[in-house]
Amino acid sequence: NQNVFGMIGLGTMGSNLLQNIADKGYHCAGYDNSVDKVNSLNALHNENIQGFSQLKDFTDSLKSPKVVMMLVPAGEIVDNVINELLGVLDKGDIIIDGGNSHYTDTERRYKELEDKGLHFVGMGVSGGEEGARRGPSMMPGGDQEAYEVLKPVLEKIAAQVNGEPTVAFMGKGSAGHFVKMVHNGIEYAIMQLISESYEIMKKGLKMDNDKIHEVYKKWNEGKLKSYLLEITTDIFAYKNEGEENLLLDSIRDEAKAKGTGKWTSQAAMDLHLPTPVIDIAVSMRDLSSLKDLRVQASRVYPDSTEKQYNTNEAEYCDQLEEAFYFAMVSAYAQGMHMLYQANKEFKYELNLDLIAKIWRGGCIIRSEFLEDIYAAFNKNPELQHILLDKNVAESFSKSIPSIRKIVSDAVLHGISTPAFSAALTYFDDFRSENMPTNLIQAQRDYFGSHTYELKAKEGVFHTKWVMENIKN
Ligand code: 6PG
Repeated sequence: NQNVFGMIGLGTMGSNLLQNIADKGYHCAGYDNSVDKVNSLNALHNENIQGFSQLKDFTDSLKSPKVVMMLVPAGEIVDNVINELLGVLDKGDIIIDGGNSHYTDTERRYKELEDKGLHFVGMGVSGGEEGARRGPSMMPGGDQEAYEVLKPVLEKIAAQVNGEPTVAFMGKGSAGHFVKMVHNGIEYAIMQLISESYEIMKKGLKMDNDKIHEVYKKWNEGKLKSYLLEITTDIFAYKNEGEENLLLDSIRDEAKAKGTGKWTSQAAMDLHLPTPVIDIAVSMRDLSSLKDLRVQASRVYPDSTEKQYNTNEAEYCDQLEEAFYFAMVSAYAQGMHMLYQANKEFKYELNLDLIAKIWRGGCIIRSEFLEDIYAAFNKNPELQHILLDKNVAESFSKSIPSIRKIVSDAVLHGISTPAFSAALTYFDDFRSENMPTNLIQAQRDYFGSHTYELKAKEGVFHTKWVMENIKN
């Protein structure tokens, strides 16, 4: 028993991560209940990797304390695998769940396994298949003692930014999976923003794919530099062998989702913490999949709005870039604010600067702007909201005229930009000392005696909103 790391689930992610670990000189083992997958792993003939189709043989091959990571679909399967592991692992061994598990499941599993004397680490892993192979960003949480055992391996297999690994202990209990969930919420928001910018360029500016490709390429060379823009640039240049048109043009407009974006919005609402750019991104994926209804509605309400903008294309794309910056900052700001609140609520002991730091490489939302977020929290660990950071505020303020222009033009031309709009309306209320919600308080009290508070006097008050007092 010489293997220092075991992996359960030999899909592409699991197999790639094992190869990454093996590259760093560690002996490791893989297990899957599909014999084909085990055979494929062994067919790699990697001298540092052993594939097993019997669970007991797999765990017997591991050095104590045994480290077993699961990369299996989230949900019941995780519980089933844990149950099987209980029969073959000993007290003090470590189980890592590297999938996208719901944080409440992780919280439960952490406690159940703690009672049984096993260490449990719920770890978000980001970066997709390529990330797993070359260096992901990892968000472990739960058992810190166990993390210290894993740390040398994880730090070696993670992506590196300025010579530092993109992995760090996030916090207690379900902290790792909570952080990963919010990462995915931000991922949804930015993807939605990119698709809205595509819509403006395609329908409003009537730009062809080559031109759109050039714009994304340029954006990715400036302050918007990010992995998601990088892959978007590639997508705008991808043609299948022998084909004239982009593959993109043949892809259906119905976006699927595994649920992590929805979980982010649900959890944000439970925390009473507004994340509208994320919420609208989730809703728009859902609307996109209602294709039949959309087709019917397009017949009932044929769109005769003039879509074409009368403007200078190059200058407009520069404004769009600024507006994109505004909305992207808003998406990150809302996600980070959510982490701030969750930290208070769940006592995770998160360090927001550390989170920004490990998101700078390896993960799907890695971007140039994360440097600014990292700097902001590093300077002030108590910072509640990144829009209140002086440096962020300076560049963010400059993009306000552009977002107003982009959103208003889109509205007038009947081009849907819900995430850009949500970013702007969120901001207009966020920076407003007085919202119109005094009226909502009055209404609640009127119909339901729910009481209200007064500006000039402490306490809660109720009024009988009788007709005599209602003056015309
Ligand atoms: C990552 C991703 C990944 C996620 C996919 C698909 O960080 O590597 O977030 O974990 O599973 O992006 O997510 P959806 O199917 O919900 O779009």
